[in-house]
Amino acid sequence: MPDTDGEELQAILNTMTDVVIMADYHGTVVQVNQAVEPMFGYQPSLLIGQNISVLMPEAHANAHQSYMARYLQAGIPRIIGVGRELAAKHKDSHLFPIHISVSKLEQYPFFIAVIRDMSELVKLEKEALLISEIERNRISRELHDELGQNLLGLTMQLQVITRQLTAADYQLQLQLQNLSNGLAHNVNNIRAIISELATVELEEQGLQSALNTFVKLCNNYNKAKVTLICEGQRPAEDYTVTINLYRIAREAIYNALKHADASQIDVSLKQQDNSIELVIQDNGKGLPSDLNVRDSRLINSGHGLRNIHFRAHVIGAELTISSAAATGTRIVCRYNQPGTKLAGANA
Ligand SMILES: Nc1ncnc2c1ncn2[C@@H]1O[C@H](COP(=O)(O)OP(=O)(O)O)[C@@H](O)[C@H]1O
Ligand SMILES: [Mg+2]
Repeated sequence: MPDTDGEELQAILNTMTDVVIMADYHGTVVQVNQAVEPMFGYQPSLLIGQNISVLMPEAHANAHQSYMARYLQAGIPRIIGVGRELAAKHKDSHLFPIHISVSKLEQYPFFIAVIRDMSELVKLEKEALLISEIERNRISRELHDELGQNLLGLTMQLQVITRQLTAADYQLQLQLQNLSNGLAHNVNNIRAIISELATVELEEQGLQSALNTFVKLCNNYNKAKVTLICEGQRPAEDYTVTINLYRIAREAIYNALKHADASQIDVSLKQQDNSIELVIQDNGKGLPSDLNVRDSRLINSGHGLRNIHFRAHVIGAELTISSAAATGTRIVCRYNQPGTKLAGANA
């Protein structure tokens, strides 16, 4: 755009709903469009001259300087050139989800960041997940009340017929016994599916109780010893938060049982007034090396691990996955109630 001078360009940028920030290599804001005010609460003039880290939660702000230094030295991109979903900090300190992509100007010593507010999208994702949970519960109830009862009826009819047979009907008795065994097997399968789908206990008794039941069930498999340590209590939570933490825990525990060759799986749930921390640690062989964990984000994983990430993202929780052959896999999910500081932000 050869005719476009600085003012025209600024006018164009000001029509955008995305925030566009130009910052120097120290992270000092040089230019920003007006969208920053509705999104972050800062007037553009207030932000110019400040460090871009005021827009980040403390944990990222601390790491930010080293990201930039690293990029400039080695050209290793973190968010630069990649685009990433992160939490951002509003002027009034509340955190909200954003998508940010950063690029470097070729000829000038500046970075350009384009930031999109993801709050609405995350809200929709949250609602969609909640709807799917309600639907799961409905299917579970129907399976229980319809199919479960019918199968039970059939089992009882079989028992009645078997009792009417005489000793001479030996072949028939064997066939009925096979039928009865098959039916019992399917009753068990249906029970397992019902409990997999249902979250009634979670709804009624809360996260600790539902996790306790699940851990007991896992110990029945005799594959690894699963322990649950709970600390603290908190008042009834937004159900979306509990359900997602619960599903994260289940997937992580199932994974440890299925893939880790672990003898021990330790689950811990720490609940405080403003935060919940969930940790699943196994002593198994660690994640395979072709499963790339970079900055505790998974690059090429299966559905289970991706769902864990997605669920954590939807409730705005911080997720860290670390893994080593010697120590096993550790998944930490830390949820902070909106409007509170990130726990361990300065750690
Ligand atoms: N705790 C664990 N220990 C060792 N390997 C694991 C663990 N969790 C996941 N994995 C590995 O990561 C892969 C992806 O896991 P996931 O996304 O849950 O998919 P799935 O369980 O369906 O295979 C697994 O196939 C397995 O190889
Ligand atoms: Mg899995």
